[in-house]
Amino acid sequence: MADGFTSREERAAFIAGLPKAELHLHIEGSLEPELMFELARRNGVAIPFANVGEVRAAYAFSNLQDFLDIYYQGMGVLQTEQDFYDLTAAYCTRANADTVRHVEIFFDPQGHTARGVAFETVITGITRALDDAKARYGMTSKLILCFLRHLSEAEAEATLDEALPFLDRIAGVGLDSSELGHPPAGFERVFARARDLGLKLVAHAGEEGPPEYVREALDLLKVDRIDHGNRSLEDPALVARLAASGMTLTVCPLSNLKLCVVDDMADHPLKIMLDAGLKATVNSDDPSYFGGYVNANYQAVADALDLSRDDLVTLARNSFTGSFLSDAEKARHLAAIAARA
Ligand code: HPA
Ligand code: ZN
Repeated sequence: MADGFTSREERAAFIAGLPKAELHLHIEGSLEPELMFELARRNGVAIPFANVGEVRAAYAFSNLQDFLDIYYQGMGVLQTEQDFYDLTAAYCTRANADTVRHVEIFFDPQGHTARGVAFETVITGITRALDDAKARYGMTSKLILCFLRHLSEAEAEATLDEALPFLDRIAGVGLDSSELGHPPAGFERVFARARDLGLKLVAHAGEEGPPEYVREALDLLKVDRIDHGNRSLEDPALVARLAASGMTLTVCPLSNLKLCVVDDMADHPLKIMLDAGLKATVNSDDPSYFGGYVNANYQAVADALDLSRDDLVTLARNSFTGSFLSDAEKARHLAAIAARA
């Protein structure tokens, strides 16, 4: 058993009670099959599944694109402001049960506006639920608008235009969807404009794409965080650079397993990342599709890699220091972790 624990159960209880931030969560990826069915019924949308069991059985993926195809199909049931509220409220309730004190949530507006759902409908429903989560649980949040990289930069620009009236509710922009063949370089101008608007910048890079995509995200997009970043490990000079600059990586263990980024959780590079001085965090990505919320991700990777108490404290600390909270807010959360550690 790793340092600091006498049993798996003791480590599980420690993980459960550890205050944490979640920095890599696609709100559309938290759509549980039960809510998918309820919304399909409410909105009269046909879905190609007879029951919840069939939906779960369809969640077997061999790569990112396999997942994305079913993820975009699933979000088709989201139509009204109340739907986006219900989706986000359900996630916040679930995250609160995992002692998540702060969330930085991705949303994919192009997945909705392409279907005729207004940007305003999406953001109003999400933000109303985030406001309620603050009142109900004291959970703070930031919203990150993701551009779909399989679409053009011009379409990303148009999406940023649509976001302008709501910039008071948007902390940053990100880049997600099909990575291979869609390098960060294609989004340099729209990221520069977002930066000029005062927005934080993140990008998925090195999930399936090569280390070069991580370098482009740093050098061309000038991101504040890297989402995933796993394949950075193939490039020692890049690892050294990421470590020296204190760049946060939002790592998603169960996602990596389900999308075959790793073949076995025992092969997950999280411990190697920590030992290399990388500021890794643990996140759930699309918890409904990948089999677990944030504590399940900590649990799975802690069991597989026999993580110590120090490792877990480092991961929880990284989740706050890598967040877009103020220094005062970060200090408050780090003190809460210290009180448990
Ligand atoms: N990778 C890229 N795009 C995504 C993901 C992911 O894991 N989840 C939702 N969109
Ligand atoms: Zn993601």
